[in-house]
Formats: sequence, structure tokens, C-alpha cells
Amino acid sequence: MKSLFPELKELKLDARKKNIRNSPKKGGSSTADSVPYLKELNVAISQNAQPIQFTPNINEHIHRWAPYVQGFSALFVQSILEQYKKEYRQPVILDPFAGCGTVLVQSKLNGYKSVGTELNPLLRFIADTKLNCWDVSPKHLLGALKMMPKNKILPAPSFLRSASHFKPGVLNNLEIINGGINSFRSRTPKQKKIKNLLVLAFSSILTDCSNLKRTPCLGYVKDKAVDDSAPFVLFNQKVNEISDDLRLIQSEFKDFINTKSTVVCANAMTYKHRSKFNLVITSPPYMNGLDYVMNYKIEMGWLEFAASQKDLKKIKDEMVVCDNVSKGLIRRFYSAPATYTNPWIEKIKADIEQNIKRRGTYRRLDMPYIVHKYFDDLYRVMKNVVASMKRRARFILVVGDSLIADVYVPTDLLIAKIGQDLGLKIEKIEKARDRRSGQIRSYKLRESIVTLQKE
Ligand SMILES: C[S@@+](CC[C@H](N)C(=O)[O-])C[C@H]1O[C@@H](n2cnc3c(N)ncnc32)[C@H](O)[C@@H]1O
Repeated sequence: MKSLFPELKELKLDARKKNIRNSPKKGGSSTADSVPYLKELNVAISQNAQPIQFTPNINEHIHRWAPYVQGFSALFVQSILEQYKKEYRQPVILDPFAGCGTVLVQSKLNGYKSVGTELNPLLRFIADTKLNCWDVSPKHLLGALKMMPKNKILPAPSFLRSASHFKPGVLNNLEIINGGINSFRSRTPKQKKIKNLLVLAFSSILTDCSNLKRTPCLGYVKDKAVDDSAPFVLFNQKVNEISDDLRLIQSEFKDFINTKSTVVCANAMTYKHRSKFNLVITSPPYMNGLDYVMNYKIEMGWLEFAASQKDLKKIKDEMVVCDNVSKGLIRRFYSAPATYTNPWIEKIKADIEQNIKRRGTYRRLDMPYIVHKYFDDLYRVMKNVVASMKRRARFILVVGDSLIADVYVPTDLLIAKIGQDLGLKIEKIEKARDRRSGQIRSYKLRESIVTLQKE
């Protein structure tokens, strides 16, 4: 029905909604907006529909030990390893943004050595435990579970709002499990591994036991039903799942138990690798994507990887930038000369600035500089990685593009351009799937696989 007072309705729309409604990008697509960039690069994008996301991993052995919404699918990593298995017979693999270790675990399941860097200490711990506890006896792990005392309470982290994160009965039971794990001895390497597996299992159940959910950002869910017994039920289930997988590893992958896999808690922009790599398979943070620290603050607090909000912020500030970093960090970035820029970045920055002025408002007025810092950070990571690639090595990046203040940002093509600037050849750019992100949901973005090669 037509409104009798359209002007009134218009007034009620806040500036944000108005901008979405009036966006010149409504119904548009990255395919059309990429044309000039592709022409300049002299490449075309091919189709290669792929299961990129982590979701199927929840049914895959080892990968299922920890739920991690930002990881990518083990199947995808396997397809890349298959693609190059004839060319590199025993490849050494690197993932500079290791996350929970999907690339590294999958490499080890193929008997390939691998190295990863990851700045979030919780994710590094998860990846390391998934990689380096393959020799733990499932019987001993289940024995430890059975022996866990129920009278040693270890309180929830005081800097988090645990009382609002969990129902009182659930919170109490989590503190009992936490205390039980804490009392477990870890003097010998074998005991340490068992304890790490118990801690990993505990970290995996925290969000499910809470009043929150990652969708993919961590947020409260109205009326989430969590039974007081959930911590014990889920913890038991998880430890049993891990024990089943250890049994499988020790029968079907026993030759690879000692294959070297290392994950260091380090910044991919500066970490100096000792090895040289044949294949770099990775997925950097997406520009208007997630906050890889705040999204895991509950687990980081409970596992004592952070003891205050200040600790969390410190880790976040070192990461490849996301769009909710502190204004001070961005101010410091634009007050000093950037490491990298190119004409595309400068044009994108200018267009965003102009559109923010035209709109009269935007979530972040310093958005042009956030965008610039994002590519500056990626340049630094890529430069560091290229230095440790062998000749003819491949650098494969999975990335999503963005639309910011009605300006299209072709992240995949910019990454390809940075690769070229660093002396790599653009071998192919494949579209894995369509995606939607940000305010203009009718604008079709893509997720791509960029393959670069060192000649
Ligand atoms: C898209 S996720 C990678 C997920 C991974 N492919 C997986 O399957 O688990 C990007 C990761 O990069 C990490 N990260 C961000 N900036 C970093 C930096 N400068 N050095 C190392 N890791 C960083 C984040 O903590 C996050 O875990």
C-alpha cells in the first residue's frame, strides 16, 4: 500500500538506511566493477566453485577438535595439495595466517612438513595441539578424563563479564572442569600433551555453553537454552571425539606422526623463516571482516592467554588491520610514511573520502586510511613470505573483496598486483563463490583464489 505521508517516512529513515537505499551500487556486482582493473593486469578471472569455508570441517577428523568459523575447508586445502603433488614431490608448506591450523593439519595428513605463523596465542595453541599430540594414547587420554577431580574450582577470568556470558549453574560447572584440568600434572612431555588436549577440548565447548554465539561475530543470543549439565556432557563428548581420532591417526596415519609441523606465535609481517617453501597456502583476514581477538576473548580469557582488555587490544593492534581497530592506531599509520602504495590504492582512498563527504556520515571517517593500512600490512606479509619461497614456488591466497562507502575494493586483484610488484607472476585468479558483505546486500562480491608463482 502506498504511504499517505511519504515525506514523513523519509524523515524517519536514519542516515545509514538512507545511504543504503540511495546507494549507486544497489544490485551491482564486483564482476562489472573489476573490468578496468583486469584490463590493466591483463588477466581474466576463471570459475572454480570450491567449498572454501570451515563448516564442513566439523565432521572431519582432527579439524573437528576446535570450532573455528574463520578457517577454511580441509577439502579445499586437499584439492590444492593434489593439484601440485606431481610438481613438488615432497613440498614444504607455509601458512603465514595459520589460524587453527587447517593448512598445516591437512599437510601433515599428507606427510608434508609445514610451518605456520599466527598472532593470536589461543589459535596458535589450538593449531599446535592439533598437530603435535598425535602420539598420545587414546586410552591414557580417556583415563585422564575419568580421573579428573570435581572438587577443585578454578574461577572464571575476572576481567570478562562471565556472569553475563554464562548461566550460574553452567558457570559453576565450567569452573569445576577448569579446576580439574588445572590439577592435572604436566611434568613429562606425555603428560603435557594430555593436558593440552584436555585444555583444547575445554576451549572448544566454552562458546556452546555460553549465552553467546559466533554468527560469525560473537554476540548474545536471545533465549539460548543451555542446560546446567552442558559443560560435562559436551566436554566428555569432545574428549571422546579426540580419542577416536587419535585411534584413527595411530592406525591410518602412523607414518606421519613425526612429520614436522611448527606453528609460531609471531607476526607474519616480520617473522624470519629458517626454511624455504614450495607452497604457501593461506587466507588473510578480510578487510571488513572479523576481529580475530574479540571474537575469541572468552576462550583467550579462560585459557589465560589474556588477563585484561589491554592484553587483548595489544594483540589486535599488531594484526593485519580490521575495521574496528583503535583510531589511535590509524592516526599513527597516517602520520608516518606508508611502506607501500600504488595508484589503485590512492584512487580508492580518494573515492571513499569523497563518498563519505557526500553521505555526510559513515561508520568510520578514517576508513580511507584503514583501507590503505590493510594493503600496507598485506604488502609487508607478502614481501616477507616471498623472501622464503623457493624458485618456482606457488603462493596461493584465498580472499574476499569489499564494497566500502560505495567504492569497490578489488582485494584479490590488488593482492595480485602487489604480487607482481614483488616479482611474482600472476598464474591464475579463480572465483570460488559469490558472497555478500557490508551494508549493500544486493551487491554481489566474490571470494577468489589467487595463485602467484616465483619464477
Ligand atoms: C582468515 S584467518 C586464517 C584461517 C586459517 N586458514 C584456518 O583455516 O584456520 C586469518 C588469521 O590471521 C591471523 N593474523 C592476522 N594478522 C596476523 C599477522 N600479522 N601475523 C600472523 N597472523 C595474523 C588471525 O589471527 C587469523 O587467525
